[in-house]
Amino acid sequence: MSNIPFQIQNFEQYQQYYSQSVEDPEGFWADIASNFYWRKPWKKTLQWNFTEPDVKWFVGGKLNITENALDRHLAERGDQTAIIWEPNDPNDDAVHITYRQLHQRVCRFANVLKKYGVVKGDRVCIYLPMVPELAVAVLACARIGAVHSVVFGGFSAQSIADRINDAQCKVVVTSDGAYRGAKEIPMKAVVDDALVICPSVETVLVMSRTRTPVSMIKGRDRWLEQEEKYVTAECPAEEMDAEDMLFILYTSGSTGKPKGVVHTVGGYMVYASYTFANVFQYQPGEIHFCTADIGWITGHSYIVYGPLCCGATSVIFEGVPTYPDAGRLWDITDRHRINILYTAPTAIRSLMGFGLQYVEGKDLSSLTKLGSVGEPINEEAWHWFKTNIGKDKCPLVDTWWQTENGGIMISPLAGITPEKPSYATLPLPGVQPVLVDENGNEIEGNGVSGNLCIKFPWPGILRTTYGDHERCRQTYFSTYPGKYFTGDGCLRDEEGYYRITGRVDDVLNVSGHRIGTAEVENAINMHLGVVESAVVGYPHDIKGQGIYAYIITEEPLNDADLTRKDILATVSRIIGPIAKPDKIQFVAGLPKTRSGKIMRRILRKIAEGDTSNLGDTSTLLDPGVVDEIKAGAL
Ligand code: WTA
Repeated sequence: MSNIPFQIQNFEQYQQYYSQSVEDPEGFWADIASNFYWRKPWKKTLQWNFTEPDVKWFVGGKLNITENALDRHLAERGDQTAIIWEPNDPNDDAVHITYRQLHQRVCRFANVLKKYGVVKGDRVCIYLPMVPELAVAVLACARIGAVHSVVFGGFSAQSIADRINDAQCKVVVTSDGAYRGAKEIPMKAVVDDALVICPSVETVLVMSRTRTPVSMIKGRDRWLEQEEKYVTAECPAEEMDAEDMLFILYTSGSTGKPKGVVHTVGGYMVYASYTFANVFQYQPGEIHFCTADIGWITGHSYIVYGPLCCGATSVIFEGVPTYPDAGRLWDITDRHRINILYTAPTAIRSLMGFGLQYVEGKDLSSLTKLGSVGEPINEEAWHWFKTNIGKDKCPLVDTWWQTENGGIMISPLAGITPEKPSYATLPLPGVQPVLVDENGNEIEGNGVSGNLCIKFPWPGILRTTYGDHERCRQTYFSTYPGKYFTGDGCLRDEEGYYRITGRVDDVLNVSGHRIGTAEVENAINMHLGVVESAVVGYPHDIKGQGIYAYIITEEPLNDADLTRKDILATVSRIIGPIAKPDKIQFVAGLPKTRSGKIMRRILRKIAEGDTSNLGDTSTLLDPGVVDEIKAGAL
């Protein structure tokens, strides 16, 4: 695409597109989808019900997403940079990979997968640092129709094993180690621990990054570099049905283990690309830097698929924003002449705290657009980003969406939609949000708040949760029949602008990472001597939310601090360091109703430090525990 054809040009056109998308959704999406390369056109644009649920887009259409992300660009922009890789160490040279080179690398990798028996429909787990091979591995799977399941590098062996077993992955792709800031992290060793309980895995492909000594098991483990030598750089793309699975991505909910959100080829491609082009108003030649990890949905949609399908140049950054110092993102922006910078409020708040001296002296004049994602952005952070990084000339888009959505849902279009700090503003054309009250009634009009639902399908909506369709129905489509329930609370102001107020279920958002309270509780409860625990979130200046755990132990503790550390070690081992509680309070009892349900409302208030009005505690089995917990609050 030289000029992206489905790009909205001004606010009037936004309104026009919006109305059209509601009046004739199928016509609207068919127009957009026709700008992609399909091997065979679809027969029916949309078929759906939100009861089972059963949603199919572009029914009967055949395509391969990598032909849209790679092959299609070769004639016109084969020598344009597709990926800029910025290594962890700023003294190491950045790597520029053109579309032609990326195409070759993807084909080579795909041939290695094929050599080890991977065929269409097989699942491949990818556990890699932020290196080009991560994008290459993802695209190689897509090339041959294998389903990728990328697991974020911060997860523990146990978490990896759970995900591998749930999806029955045949192959794992990993690296010897990873550099993250000043740390060197063993990746292969973690995978080895996981694989002890993963019988489905036949082959492990290991990329060498750190030269950390690793154990390589004969017959199972292979060095990627070695394997790539013996395959060609040609690999025809597998013809996929629009509704064939593209990937699984695990995400936390309010109950049980993380579930595998399933996205399919056609709808996801159209939605990730459409949102990328419109929200960021991407102009050919611009350099797009999304700081998320490819292990999360933001990286899938806005580092890999969206940008590449639109022929953009996308940056992959291996390190962290504070290494070697808090000026790293501004340094990268300066050196690579970044145009679009898409990051998370937690990063902004953290960098804000280091002071402006890290921004001074950096040339940020290349920036044209800024974006924020993952959690509500507070006004202070919004203004700091807009003024000090965007120099008050760059539009700033606060983009609301979820793993289950495939792409951005509610957001300004950069430079087109009037902005309002801390508001995600207006739905994209094709997205029909509604607010509902506890009884499921739609709340009409403006100046209202309620639970956020979406009442009509969009192409990027999840199709199922892997291996358990009933769970998908239960989680998203049963609370408010006929609607997709997001789990978020939301306010619609007098002008009809949306502001997401945070989760209304038991899901925490810690530094933009989704973590279920039940998951953390289960991990804590596995610790020796723990009887019961209750986990809630509390406002945290940098992380957005911190994790507060109330824990009952079998016996009084001799050394509470040491036990705290031990419990943190258990949580790290079971889930990963991102789920470690910030505060642990040992308690003798938890506030429970007579039916045995923990009253989290009270625990949340205490964790927030707001004990003045705890509401009605008369229904508690033992109201006395509340005073004790209050007295010991951290
Ligand atoms: C939250 C990340 C406020 C929200 C793309 C949602 C946000 C959850 C925003 C999804 C935003 C994401 N403003 N809250 N701009 N963006 N959220 O699946 O609670 O990791 O439900 O997807 O993050 O997190 P997930």
